[in-house]
Parts: sequence; structure tokens; C-alpha cells
Amino acid sequence: MGCHGGLTHQMQMFADRGLNAGQARIMTQIHRITLARHITGTPSLEDFKLEALDPPALKEGQFRVANAFVSADPGTRSRLSGTASYAGALQIGDVIDGFAVGHVVESLNPAFEIGQLVTLGSGWADQTISNGRGYCAKLPDLGVPLSAWIGVLGVPGMTAWFGLKRVGQIKPGDRVIVTSAAGPVGATAGQLAKAWGASRVVGVASAGAKSDWLLQEAGFDAVIDYRSPTFAADLAAAMPEGADILFDNVGNKMIDTILPLMRPFGRIVVSGQVADYNVAPADRHGIRNTDRFITHRLKMEGLVVFDDLRAFPEAQAEAAAMINSGQLKLKEVISEGIDSLPAAFCALFQPGATFGRRLARI
Ligand SMILES: NC(=O)c1ccc[n+]([C@@H]2O[C@H](COP(=O)([O-])OP(=O)(O)OC[C@H]3O[C@@H](n4cnc5c(N)ncnc54)[C@H](OP(=O)(O)O)[C@@H]3O)[C@@H](O)[C@H]2O)c1
Repeated sequence: MGCHGGLTHQMQMFADRGLNAGQARIMTQIHRITLARHITGTPSLEDFKLEALDPPALKEGQFRVANAFVSADPGTRSRLSGTASYAGALQIGDVIDGFAVGHVVESLNPAFEIGQLVTLGSGWADQTISNGRGYCAKLPDLGVPLSAWIGVLGVPGMTAWFGLKRVGQIKPGDRVIVTSAAGPVGATAGQLAKAWGASRVVGVASAGAKSDWLLQEAGFDAVIDYRSPTFAADLAAAMPEGADILFDNVGNKMIDTILPLMRPFGRIVVSGQVADYNVAPADRHGIRNTDRFITHRLKMEGLVVFDDLRAFPEAQAEAAAMINSGQLKLKEVISEGIDSLPAAFCALFQPGATFGRRLARI
């Protein structure tokens, strides 16, 4: 079977939104970032290695994607210490996890013609060879910037969507607290909560630009700085009647601090643990205020967003309409080149150091 198709109408439509589809890159070497050593504590640039290698010839059923944007995701940290996480540990020399959006430039798979726009779990590489299995989807034209497919319409946005809807069982009138509220998951969660009828949404994030954006652009009712010595009291004052939903991206100590604010039948959505990923499990803060679960009949439930994969297209179409109408705002920091990803990733674990979805443009 030979290569399929030519440049499609769809590529032209996407061209104005971040990918010059008319200039399909001729693939020379693959540039990728691998794990140089297992990480203890906070990640640093020395933990990563840039490699260049000749691309292998495609096998039957495979296609090659020229990645346009690749993401740095904090959850990847849990796979880099050499100990198993739910997704399994990466070994030294493995390509670091990341999501990409790009177009097919060579194909031995009839379902993925040349020019097809796709998003996929690519790893940190400028091109990806795929057989279409795993996290890989052909993209419809929903009129959004390409980069949104690995942001609000990708794993972070869908985590917010299904975390609030399926796990948090959000309903009109709910009072919602979102932690790491200025990140792509948190900012989407807070805006969706508002759109879905929450009566009050309070974010927890660094003061300054993040707080200003959440209040002025994203419609949060209040934003509290978790680094203030009066954090717990400030949050209680900002949510005087307590919270029905805590959407947590931060980890055990944060949950423990907020537990006394939970209202009867409240739901705690455990989305992420950005403060705990760099801490060995035995050294993490324990959750102590567990009596609140009994007295207030609380539930706490985690999610792995890929459980909701089949429902992504419908949610993505709705989220895209919200982006296009201006109801859902997104914030991105785009650096240049695959070799910019280690620094982007390291910044995610330095409070206040970065603001928005971290992406590399390839
Ligand atoms: N369950 C799932 O299926 C799923 C899927 C995707 C992502 N997630 C998780 O969702 C969470 C949010 O992801 P995201 O992509 O939107 O990342 P993010 O929230 O933007 O994460 C980076 C931000 O976390 C904050 N942070 C860093 N260290 C902190 C600390 N010690 N204490 C408190 N905050 C700290 C910083 O914001 P400040 O400057 O405001 O401190 C930093 O900019 C992550 O934990 C991720 O693993 C879960």
C-alpha cells in the first residue's frame, strides 16, 4: 500500500490557525527529548536529554505526523521517578510524555490520509509515528486555534469537564472552590462551573497576574493566594457559606486545609497533585480532617480522564462553541522548539513561575 491522498480542503481551513498546512515539512531527523535520569524531588534541565535520530521507514498500518504543537504536562512528573504510577514508570532513555496536534505527512494507513489533522499522545518529539491506537483522534474543524486541541479541547480541558460533570455532579447553585485555578485544568473548571450555574466560584492561585486574569477575564468571584500566611482564613471569608465542590489539582495538604469548609453532601474531585508529585509518598502530608466526611456526608473521588474518552467529541464541540462565543477563555505560553519543553516543564513546579498551558511550537 502506498501513501494516500494530497493536501485536503481541511488543511487549508486550518492553515490560518497556526499550522501552515501548505508547507508539509519534509521529515529529516526526529528530534526528541528523553529521560536522562530518574528524578528525585523537583525536576531540573539535567534530567532530560535531546536526541536526533533517523526516522525509521513506516510499516503497514502506520503514519507519520509532523507535530505543530507539543505540550508539557505536570502529571507526567509522576512517571519520572522510576517508581510506578497509575500510568507506569518511564525508564531512562524513554521519550517524555506529551500531547501533540499536527498533520499526517506520510501514511501507510488508509484511515489517516496525508493532510489529516490529528491529536495524539506523541511524547516530546517533533514528529510521531503512530498506528492510530491509544490516544489518537482525527480532528473536525471547530474553528478554534490548533493549539486548543491540546489545551481546553484536550486532556486538561476534558479533565475539567468530566471532573466537574461526572465526578463532581455539579448542579445550579453549587458553590465551587478550584485549586491551581489559573492552570489549564483549573481555569477551565472555574469557567465551566460558572457556565453551568454555580452560584459562587472561588479560585486558589498565586497573587498578581494570575489572580487578576481569573477575576477580570475568567469570571471567578474571588481568588485567594495559597502562599499567604492567612490562606485558610482568607478562603473561609471568601466562601462564607462553605463549598459544595472542591476541584483539587494540588494535593493532600490543600485538601486537608479546605475540608473544614465543605458543606453537607459535598464532593471533592481529586484531579491532580502538583504539590505532591515531587514528594515521596511516605513524606506527603496526610489527610487528617477525615471526621468531616462523616459529619457532612462528603465524597472524594479521583478521575483518569481517559475513562471518558468516548464522550470527548460531544464535550469538545460544546467547549469549542464556548471558546468561539467568548464564554470560555484560554491562556497559553508557547515556546519555540522541542528543546524548549524541559524548561517549560520545570517551571510548572515553581509556584508563580508560569501562567497558562505550556506548549512548544515545532
Ligand atoms: N486526573 C486526570 O485525568 C488529569 C488529567 C490532566 C491533568 N491532571 C492534573 O490536573 C492538575 C492541573 O493540571 P494543569 O495542566 O492545569 O497544570 P497547572 O495547574 O497549571 O500546574 C502548574 C501550576 O501548579 C501550581 N503549583 C505548582 N506547585 C505548587 C504547589 N507546591 N502548591 C500549589 N500550587 C502549585 C502553579 O500555579 P501557581 O503559580 O498558582 O502556584 C503552577 O503554575 C495537575 O496536577 C495534573 O496532573 C489530571
